[in-house]
Amino acid sequence: MTVFYPHPTLDITLVSAKENTFTDDQNRTYLDFESGIWCANIGHNPEPLVQIYTSQSQKLIHHHSYFKNHAVQRLSAQLLAISSFDEGAALFLSSGSEAVLFAITVAKTLLQNAKCVSLENSYLGAYPTMVSDESDHIQMPFTKCDPKCDENNDIVCECCPHVPDALKYLKEPFIFILELGSQEGKLIFPTQKLIHYIHQKNCIHKGLLVCNEITSGFGRTSEWFAFNHYNLKPHLIALGKGLGNGFPISAILMDQQIYKDPKLMHLKYAQSHQNDPLGAEIAYSATQMIIQNNLIAKSKDISYYFIDRLTQLIHQYSSLVELRGKGLMLGLVCDHSATAIALQQHLLEHQIFVGCVSVHAIVRFFPPMTMSKQEIDILIDKIHLFLANNKSSL
Ligand SMILES: Cc1ncc(COP(=O)(O)O)c(C=O)c1O
Repeated sequence: MTVFYPHPTLDITLVSAKENTFTDDQNRTYLDFESGIWCANIGHNPEPLVQIYTSQSQKLIHHHSYFKNHAVQRLSAQLLAISSFDEGAALFLSSGSEAVLFAITVAKTLLQNAKCVSLENSYLGAYPTMVSDESDHIQMPFTKCDPKCDENNDIVCECCPHVPDALKYLKEPFIFILELGSQEGKLIFPTQKLIHYIHQKNCIHKGLLVCNEITSGFGRTSEWFAFNHYNLKPHLIALGKGLGNGFPISAILMDQQIYKDPKLMHLKYAQSHQNDPLGAEIAYSATQMIIQNNLIAKSKDISYYFIDRLTQLIHQYSSLVELRGKGLMLGLVCDHSATAIALQQHLLEHQIFVGCVSVHAIVRFFPPMTMSKQEIDILIDKIHLFLANNKSSL
């Protein structure tokens, strides 16, 4: 008997996790700079959440989709208030992939035959069949985005020269599916200019804006949502990961215009765990913890400190090329893939877990918002140790 893993794995077996760490079956405790897989934004198993798991699982975990429960009502009100969708509605599912696909499905139900527009390499669901037809889908090519480009007045810049051409013939409403920051692990945040250019076209044609905030939401970029950095007002938001802080719950938030559209009545969808009360209680409490402990503002301070320390490393070592990202969604670009892989391995040997996007030579840091400056110092010291012993350093 064995387990099938359709992805790379390490030969480390975990038995527990607490706050910013996890522990393996050899009793080795690691600092977790990946927050599980970008979910545990408030740290692993905080005590108030453990209590909610216990109390709610003694009351009601799950029920038939014919019934309602108070937990989802309360969570819905909380999330709609945070996203200023006061008269809107929310649906709760299990995975982020499902939430993205459902949000696109809603948009396509309302805007039948509309084309989808997204930035190149955006995540469009585990099986991106909804928008896979090329004639139906325009992908905005952009290879990098230099924030300095926002300082000049050109409509587009050398980062995204083909955007006007790609949108030239679009004269009808379209669905702008926006995922900010990841771009398949490249960690590129587009310029304000690029996003506003596409968004304005979309507004002129009365299209819809769908924001995928699965990874970038819940304080990951030191704002509630990454679209807050761009001052956008989406029609639909897909949430997951940080929503349940590791518990599998996702959400689709829709604004009033979407929710009240009569075409939505024709959309039928059923899933065994939609609107389950256990997940809803956990997500409500995790979100309350962010609010009550002022974690987003605090994480901004941690992020500035982290960015500062990483930037110093870049100045010191030639094997580090560039720092990308926002908030606590950061990536250090190395000179070669081999450097990034070796650095990840070195940190693991020192009981620090970081991500690695080897194709782009990036070492990734997506820590919980509760990660302390002292814990960041431990990481930085170990990176120094690696780079100082690495032949390619200055
Ligand atoms: C931007 C984005 N959207 C959606 C997903 C899918 O979420 P899930 O793994 O919960 O299905 C991911 C997963 O990493 C993601 O990064």
